[in-house]
Amino acid sequence: MGGARQFLAALLAVAAAAAMVAPARGRFVVEKSSVRVLAPEHIRGHHDAAIGNFGVPDYGGTLTGVVLYPDKKATGCAEFPARFKSKSGRPVVLLLDRGECYFALKSWNAQQAGAAAVLIADTVDEQLLTMDTPEASPDTRYLDKLNIPSALVNRAFGESLKRMAEKADAEGEVVVKLDWRESMPHPDERVEYELWTNSNDECGPRCDEQAAFVRSFRGHAQILERGGYARFTPHYITWYCPEAFRLTRQCQSQCINHGRYCAPDPEEDFGEGYEGKQVVVENLRQLCVHRVANESGRPWAWWDFAMDYKLRCSMKEKKYSKACAEEVVASLGLPLEKVLACMGDPDADADNAVLSKEQEDQIGRGSRGDVTILPTLVINDVQYRGKLERTAVLKAVCAGFKEGTEPQVCLSHAWRRTSACTGTAGAGGTRRRT
Ligand SMILES: *[C@@H]1O[C@H](CO)[C@@H](O)[C@H](O)[C@H]1NC(C)=O
Repeated sequence: MGGARQFLAALLAVAAAAAMVAPARGRFVVEKSSVRVLAPEHIRGHHDAAIGNFGVPDYGGTLTGVVLYPDKKATGCAEFPARFKSKSGRPVVLLLDRGECYFALKSWNAQQAGAAAVLIADTVDEQLLTMDTPEASPDTRYLDKLNIPSALVNRAFGESLKRMAEKADAEGEVVVKLDWRESMPHPDERVEYELWTNSNDECGPRCDEQAAFVRSFRGHAQILERGGYARFTPHYITWYCPEAFRLTRQCQSQCINHGRYCAPDPEEDFGEGYEGKQVVVENLRQLCVHRVANESGRPWAWWDFAMDYKLRCSMKEKKYSKACAEEVVASLGLPLEKVLACMGDPDADADNAVLSKEQEDQIGRGSRGDVTILPTLVINDVQYRGKLERTAVLKAVCAGFKEGTEPQVCLSHAWRRTSACTGTAGAGGTRRRT
């Protein structure tokens, strides 16, 4: 019985996910940084690298270091026996081979061995891809502590770096400059950014990570928005039920407005606990809280609502409910009747303007790519890569201001920042965990 239920849940999720991304054919953009070889002289040049979706990319900055390639354990899947050091005392950029374990684990082992950054050399000839974070589990707790940048380089460039690094004694060190200055567009004095999230709090580490981020970034977010330095928009991924499934029990429990807007059942069990439908309604309420707050001139109240709701109305404590949400709305002094008017009637066989807009916005446009993973942070229309953590995200947001227009909250962190003019247009691509 349990098996049959899971099968149905999986079927719907797959059908719904396929329907969700179909219009844009799953376009995924690989965000890049650049690697400039400074020495030795005869291999000087500029190469692209794909920013890993873990650790802390140095958005807006550069890092000059010496490339070392371990002569043993070059995949970096096991702990290194000793720390790496360069002869000149410059930071170490550890070069590792792709394969045998998660990209993120290689970076963690490199960080533990003193590396300041990691370059992973692809082992096949292909377009650059985004190195993704592994599914969170007790074995991947190191992800929280991973705070160096990592990037993937293509096989050919990786091979030439390896050859040079192996000959380094005779010819001097291999010095590279990693450059993230153009990884974030920085056209003007205001940053636009958006977080694609979910009001569900029962999805394990992924949900805990989002809750922790909302709580810890709230202060920065409110300073930036109150000062007029940033405009933030929350978004919620919204599935839909294909026509043929609309009358099924699964769709009826996971969708509102007759199958138009859905969310997966939080427990993946249709007989128990919360239903996907309740999650969509709550997502809709949070979107409306933002709209109403925005109209009354304080859009940043969304951060208070999202944080308070997660604290006071959690699923884990069986408090996820309309009544609890409405108490939070009232406690923030937001007009409840406006929120309700914005939400409309979830039982109506009609479109809901707010949720339809969410479905449209999920589809990639310009340089952004489709939103297919939760959570996704988009800054100045490019998808952020790196961990969802307060300082890492603030660094990326700060790199989105035109030089000289950064607010104080950015300047109080001593980040290097200089102008550069290398292009790093993203191309269609893919992501992998190993
Ligand atoms: C918030 O308000 C501004 C203008 O006051 C508007 O341009 C923007 O679209 C609003 N955002 C949302 C999500 O309604």
